[in-house]
Amino acid sequence: MNILVIGSGGREHAISWKIAQSDKVENLYVAPGNAGTSNVATNVEIGVNDFEKLGAFALENAIDLVVVGPEEPLVKGIADYFKADENLKNIKLVGPNKEGAQLEGSKDFSKEFMFRHNIPTAGYKTFTREELEEGKAYLASAKAPYVLKADGLAAGKGVIITESLEEAQESLTDMLAHAKFGDASSRVVIEEFLDGIELSVFVLTDGKSYVTLPEAKDYKRIGEGDTGLNTGGMGALSPVPFADETFMQKIDEKVVKPTIDGLKKDEIDYVGFIFFGLIKVGEEPLVIEYNVRMGDPETEVVMPRIKSDFVDALVAAADGTLDTVEVAFEEQSASTVMLVSGGYPEAYEKGYEITGLDKVENVIPFHAGTKLVDGKIVNVGGRVIAVSALGENIKEALEKSKKAAEVISWQNYNYRKDIGFDLLPLLD
Ligand code: AMP
Ligand code: GLY
Repeated sequence: MNILVIGSGGREHAISWKIAQSDKVENLYVAPGNAGTSNVATNVEIGVNDFEKLGAFALENAIDLVVVGPEEPLVKGIADYFKADENLKNIKLVGPNKEGAQLEGSKDFSKEFMFRHNIPTAGYKTFTREELEEGKAYLASAKAPYVLKADGLAAGKGVIITESLEEAQESLTDMLAHAKFGDASSRVVIEEFLDGIELSVFVLTDGKSYVTLPEAKDYKRIGEGDTGLNTGGMGALSPVPFADETFMQKIDEKVVKPTIDGLKKDEIDYVGFIFFGLIKVGEEPLVIEYNVRMGDPETEVVMPRIKSDFVDALVAAADGTLDTVEVAFEEQSASTVMLVSGGYPEAYEKGYEITGLDKVENVIPFHAGTKLVDGKIVNVGGRVIAVSALGENIKEALEKSKKAAEVISWQNYNYRKDIGFDLLPLLD
């Protein structure tokens, strides 16, 4: 088969690394990819939202299967674009259509969906531009901390959590009246604050049945001890020690099944991944958000834990025959530690040569913001390399990731040395 993966992050490197292990693959392409994906696939210089060029490339290269990594092309309708074209419609595509992608593309849509289908989530109310004063009054009558979410995609920056009523009201004004996140904040969801521990659960679905992939926990803050600014994710672990069988079953019954059934009831034809951002409050799982893609850096621990040929599962999802496929998982634990550019998530410098990649052992360095320039691998993004490892347990995996994180380096690079700090006591 000829396969095209769309995206350029650590997630897409991990997905293409896994796909490349299948003997069903003839040609594997990644658009646009990074320096790491070029080790397992052929990079194609086409942006993730350039549907016309992606479609033309797929035809010219007899692509059989397209796997869409990031949310933006999905929310913009890449699946619908392929479906609507006579020549492209028979290419298998893993990724929901525009309607399904609203689960991530609109917080208001996803909250309505959860309430309609009795899926546990925080209470909320949505306000439009015209309702700014009502929104401010609602905040005044609510309890701190206040949670405000821009309705649309805001590159992971659209959530504001504050203890201060004044700040919450100012943020609401910035979002609604001053279009802080452009159109994405023309509506704002104000949500009840949930106190608990978070985890990420993933399924691959053909819209009827689903396969639950290994769960993971990611570490979003830049600073050790979960302090400082939010990032795209600084590291991840799988399995999650507190997600025992009973809890995972509860997630399946109360969250995953009702979501798949809800999609069916709403007649949303959903093919692709669903990422459940969950929070465990007491013994109960509640949904914080849906994403219509895999997580990053979670994918960098999920893919190494899949034993089976992943291409079989992807094809079956696209074909609507997922119930015929068994997916086996690795008993071993996985960790990833994200090496980031100094200064990230604020301003950082690019173009430094990355060294040490050829000296690390027993790890899989998944590339994110890297590029091959004049034969050298340089940093071109904030998150640069996710150093993944497998081990008999999480501690062993983490030791491998951390050891390699010292060896790979470039000017001013940074990483968290404490990934897993909150979970390790659970393992003693
Ligand atoms: P989201 O983009 O919806 O995932 O939100 C980003 C982060 O904000 C989440 O990963 C949580 O850490 C936090 N968060 C979002 N909603 C809530 C909530 N209702 N209560 C507590 N924390 C939240
Ligand atoms: N790691 C969280 C995300 O991918 O959204």
